Amino acid sequence: MARVVISLGGSVLFPSLETHTLLSYAPVLKRLSGQADLAVVVGGGGEARRYIHAARECGADEASCDEIGILVTRLNAALLLAALGDSAYPKVARDPGEAVAYMGRQKVVLMGGVTPAQTTDAVAAVLAELSRADILVNLTSVDGIYSRDPKTDPSARRFDRMSFDELLGVAGSGGLEAGSNTVLDIVAAKVISRSRIPLLVLDGREPRLIEDVLAGKKRAGTLVSAPGKDPLPLLRAAPP
Ligand code: UTP
Repeated sequence: MARVVISLGGSVLFPSLETHTLLSYAPVLKRLSGQADLAVVVGGGGEARRYIHAARECGADEASCDEIGILVTRLNAALLLAALGDSAYPKVARDPGEAVAYMGRQKVVLMGGVTPAQTTDAVAAVLAELSRADILVNLTSVDGIYSRDPKTDPSARRFDRMSFDELLGVAGSGGLEAGSNTVLDIVAAKVISRSRIPLLVLDGREPRLIEDVLAGKKRAGTLVSAPGKDPLPLLRAAPP
């Protein structure tokens, strides 16, 4: 069975607590777990940013802000666990090693953040490395990796495919303060590159897209892989 690790951006699942997309994502993740050994690392989203903002206003240092962000990611993971019910392993893993121990049971394994000065993308990259995943999928609120920030630079172009070295170049230009919002953090890019883990960066605002792309029915987002090696298709197509 293929092994898939998903970094599910908090901006996708929890733009805010009121506008969550748990009920659209739960059925997609349930179907995927029927075909793949699946682990999902959940991000902090708007609620994490609000908590971090409040902590900064109170004079908290950056590491303390990160710890607060981590708590929110774990809360978000617990909410996704509630939405998945029996399809999820019943405990949010505390670290990648624990998550690997829970995998291989046909249940979606969930976790949030682990340690300050990184994001859940880095956690997902380490989990992909440790679990020898076939692919890491980063579901985020943009439609792929761009050469520059497309919001500020109209000449930015989206990569359909890129090499690990190109990924390191693009990720190296992002910031790392608590709550920062880059497509992929540099720690994640380094882990992915050193172990040559195929990475798919996909628009998470359309929950079903991941099924179509992993099944080879559609091409979308940015695929980072070794030259001449295409990890897709990885799964069978989902029913219409
Ligand atoms: P994330 O950055 O991973 O969630 O964690 P996100 O930003 O909502 O994900 P995207 O933007 O949708 O992709 C939120 C914050 O929690 C702290 C960081 O401060 C991060 O910005 N965090 C998270 C850590 O310090 N360590 C972790 O392992 C995870």
